[in-house]
Amino acid sequence: MAFSRAEAFAPATVANLGVGFDIMGLALQGMGDRAIVEFQDASEIVISEIQGDGGKLPLDPALNIAAVSARALLDHVDEPRGLKIRLIKGLPLSSGLGSSAASAVVSVVALNKLLGEPFAREQLLPFCLEGEALVSGYHADNVAPCLLGGIILVAGTTVDAIQPLPIPERFHLALVTPDVPVPTDSARKILPKHITLKTMIHQTGAVAKLVDALHRGDLGALGAAIENDRVVEPARACLMPMHKEARAAAKQAGAAAVFIGGAGPTLCAICESAAIAKATASAMQAVYQAANTACIAQATGVDRCGAVLLNAD
Ligand code: HSE
Repeated sequence: MAFSRAEAFAPATVANLGVGFDIMGLALQGMGDRAIVEFQDASEIVISEIQGDGGKLPLDPALNIAAVSARALLDHVDEPRGLKIRLIKGLPLSSGLGSSAASAVVSVVALNKLLGEPFAREQLLPFCLEGEALVSGYHADNVAPCLLGGIILVAGTTVDAIQPLPIPERFHLALVTPDVPVPTDSARKILPKHITLKTMIHQTGAVAKLVDALHRGDLGALGAAIENDRVVEPARACLMPMHKEARAAAKQAGAAAVFIGGAGPTLCAICESAAIAKATASAMQAVYQAANTACIAQATGVDRCGAVLLNAD
């Protein structure tokens, strides 16, 4: 059956997991973006409407992530028709919740349906990366979990680099996102350009321990590994308001690990029960409220599906 219109949803994601800079990420239950994509006879892509972005995202298809990703897929299959895209942003921008990846993924997943699903889900990675690269750089740690769900190791930018990791049984999440945008490019510019061999050995050891802890479902070892970042989080902490205080509140509430979500300013905590995750989210929220900084707090879990098609006709 041929479809001319499809609607999809793409979840929030959290990249890095502390030491796994640019090579690891997970998908979150709950928040996400939606897109409605329709074929049109004219060959261009038109962004007909964007909701939920406060007017901040470009309508110009050459600058819009959803359009650039969709264009990469249309060109790849030599599709002569163009598209009309309506984007409904559920994710705050520049927040560390994978907003740009969700824009890329949601349009590509809907378009793949319109095209008759020529590509398996993971094969959509390169098209999504074309859009993601516009604002975040060419790395797949948000795009891969957004497409596939789960906790994903993506040690590269090609489809064969995707490796789903086990989700431990007692694995709950608490997140707080202060209303202080941190653009990814600023958060990348602040990183050290060179590290010593000693630091490199330390970081690779911590990543190896993280992966091992996930396989063994050992949250104690997982927390220690995630928090053992000597390169990225120490450099970025100054960009996150109340970072130290919110982290301390999360640990006090019982979190097993606290790390900056993606490029920030979201702080993400891993907790061994839903009750601890709820208490941790409230404790981190209270820190920002006390500082008169608006924030979104949530207790959630890992989304296992990734982007979903909502309907097509
Ligand atoms: N891994 C990326 C970073 C995620 O931390 O800069 C944001 O795109």
